[in-house]
Amino acid sequence: MTNIPAIYQGQLNTLEQIKVSPLSRAYTFSDSIYEVIPYFLGKPLCFKEHFDRMRESARLMDLNIDFESVTSDIKQLAETLAKKDGYVYYQISRGVDLVRSHFYQDDLEIERFGYAMPTTFPSSPVSAMLCHDDRWGKCNIKSTALLGNVLAMNKAKSLGCQEVVMHKDGFMTEAGSSNVFYFDSNGVVRTPAISENILPGITRAILIDALKETSYCVKKGNCSIKDLNDSPCIWLTSSTKGILPINNLIGTDYKLEENYQGYLDIAELFNSAMQSHLEASE
Ligand code: PDD
Repeated sequence: MTNIPAIYQGQLNTLEQIKVSPLSRAYTFSDSIYEVIPYFLGKPLCFKEHFDRMRESARLMDLNIDFESVTSDIKQLAETLAKKDGYVYYQISRGVDLVRSHFYQDDLEIERFGYAMPTTFPSSPVSAMLCHDDRWGKCNIKSTALLGNVLAMNKAKSLGCQEVVMHKDGFMTEAGSSNVFYFDSNGVVRTPAISENILPGITRAILIDALKETSYCVKKGNCSIKDLNDSPCIWLTSSTKGILPINNLIGTDYKLEENYQGYLDIAELFNSAMQSHLEASE
């Protein structure tokens, strides 16, 4: 891939021109956080929410960041997406060590990196695999430490799947790179409550908000994986997927009920909420 606009320490360049030290703590320890901000026709969806989540990830990691530089970096990247659909990937690491050490120096220079990728967003249902959630205990931090997700998702890929649905001891957490919702057998929309075991997804919040004053108001809490066997519809939410139904979930008896009215309704509510956010976006 050539000529993808990218930025490193405030210098706009292309992805292939940027050179990073192997002693970046992002490289040696995944001591870094990131955001993926979607753009539609050049407009960001929920920029402030992504920015606030990045601040919270930084706070939880004790990263001392100059957020004015971050804003300027992302703005420069976003300008390259003028009138296009795509996303900005933005990553902040604690910095570059002189020599690898678990203990970090207090005066490291924060390392800022990002790129802007024009893309089209998927809309077809995906297959997924149910698996145990073997990740660390702070998945609410949007850190680049994603080995648990990577291993699970690639196991799923070998079975023809594009995602995983993870659980801890029988209770659903989230997917490998998305949050999960479903209709239970009583037609109630369910999703796991926010905890340290899941990422507080921005798309998740858009959907919950859009359904608030409707008959589909979301019940957040413990979600037993047994519920999935007789759910008519399970779906994912993420910045790069929007909302996307799962048509097959290996490890369960689940089968997507095609054209399930509840899902058609919530998809319409989600799409109009998204349009309102984009109209309000600068
Ligand atoms: N992933 N859970 C996990 C583990 C994620 O990685 C993501 C997003 C989400 C959904 O969050 P949001 O709605 O804010 O995008 C939930 C991004 C897109 C990624 O890593 O590429």
